[in-house]
Amino acid sequence: MAQVKFEPLSKDFSENPYETYAALRALDAPFYFTDQDMYLLSRYEDVSKIATNQNMVRSLEGLESEEDAKERQRRANWHDMPYHERVVQFSLLDSDGEVHRRLRKQVFGSFTSRSIAALEPVVQAFVDQLIAGFRDKDQIEFIEDFAAHVPGYVIGHLLGAPEEYSNQLRLWSEQVVQFFDVDRSDEKKQIAETATREFFEFLVDLKNERSRNPKDDLISKMILDEREGHYTEDEFISTCMLILMAGHGSTIDVLGSGMHTLLKHPNAIAQMREAPEIIPTAIQEMFRFEPPLPFFHRHALEDVTIRDHTFPKGTTFGLLYGAANRDPAQFENPDQFQIDRTPNRHLAFGQGAHLCLGNHIARQNMKVIFETLLREFKDFTLIDDHVSYKRGLSVRGVEALNIGLAR
Ligand code: HEM
Repeated sequence: MAQVKFEPLSKDFSENPYETYAALRALDAPFYFTDQDMYLLSRYEDVSKIATNQNMVRSLEGLESEEDAKERQRRANWHDMPYHERVVQFSLLDSDGEVHRRLRKQVFGSFTSRSIAALEPVVQAFVDQLIAGFRDKDQIEFIEDFAAHVPGYVIGHLLGAPEEYSNQLRLWSEQVVQFFDVDRSDEKKQIAETATREFFEFLVDLKNERSRNPKDDLISKMILDEREGHYTEDEFISTCMLILMAGHGSTIDVLGSGMHTLLKHPNAIAQMREAPEIIPTAIQEMFRFEPPLPFFHRHALEDVTIRDHTFPKGTTFGLLYGAANRDPAQFENPDQFQIDRTPNRHLAFGQGAHLCLGNHIARQNMKVIFETLLREFKDFTLIDDHVSYKRGLSVRGVEALNIGLAR
């Protein structure tokens, strides 16, 4: 059988994971990733089958003995971090069944396309303000000067976090999220735990403040839900934290790689200028082409068969959404960036019970941003010959993106 060199922390992988993904898809059976003791699914059909199966779960809580759970935590270096274990390792994202349905139901209404439409003018005003800040510049670093400011403001606004905390929210999010990747050093662990504690304390203070002075924001609504018994205290904080974190790096990363991809496809930019109504479709293609969160896992609650291979209950699968999005069995010419691609049933937001709650916000932010940038600037150019992407399996995004601007 063909061998695949799978080194997700290598520079080669970060430069181009898609060759590796193609090699994984070509294998007869799911690839066993020794480091993480999991089988990687890379074909669209396999990923979709597991993501939509209710017996494939995020958490093993209650399914393994306390001793086994401790041992697994220790092997993954997820132990001895009290705040992280309390509010990061157990969240809406990492719960299943009844608990997951209850937690998701509480906030779902605030994330529908209808509710999110009310945020559009807020995003527009903020984007206009950011752009006004570099009115006199003919060059910016797109990530630090622009993209990085967006999610803290928008998601902070939705939840009700004061604007002056936007940058701090980004820092905490990055410090906590970096510990989800396959590289879990003790140093990263310390950073993640400290950030979780500070983030926790900030949210407790915010919650106390809003209990006294409710506003028209999500945290005030959640306080009412908590009074009706829909949350425990830790669930409350962990839900707020997840909402602030899940969409943070992902928004920054997809803005960066979306912009980078466009700069490499000037015809696409011309088409979007000529017919702006195509922008929402183009944005779906940006998500398919470079999904910012390309890897999640599931545990099997029952035996499951994938292409004649049976995996026993207890198997862990890695869902490579980034590989599924380039599967030629699902997408014609998958390695071509086609902004008018329809249908485009990409898996950048996952599928099934854990489908991204923020997918409408994410797409709306992108729509407002690219419409505005195309309206405000006559031209964009890629300044660097080479653009580096971050290392790791769980995230995909540029390190930095210097672009030239012409009005
Ligand atoms: C910007 C691009 C984004 C991408 C590509 C993305 C991607 C994803 C994916 C793939 C999942 C599913 C995880 C799994 O299969 O286990 C997910 C879940 C989730 N996302 Fe997003 N996300 C984005 C933005 C956001 C935003 C802006 C928010 C919130 C404001 C958000 C909140 C969530 C939450 C709460 C979940 C957990 C849902 C559940 O477990 O039921 N995401 N996201």
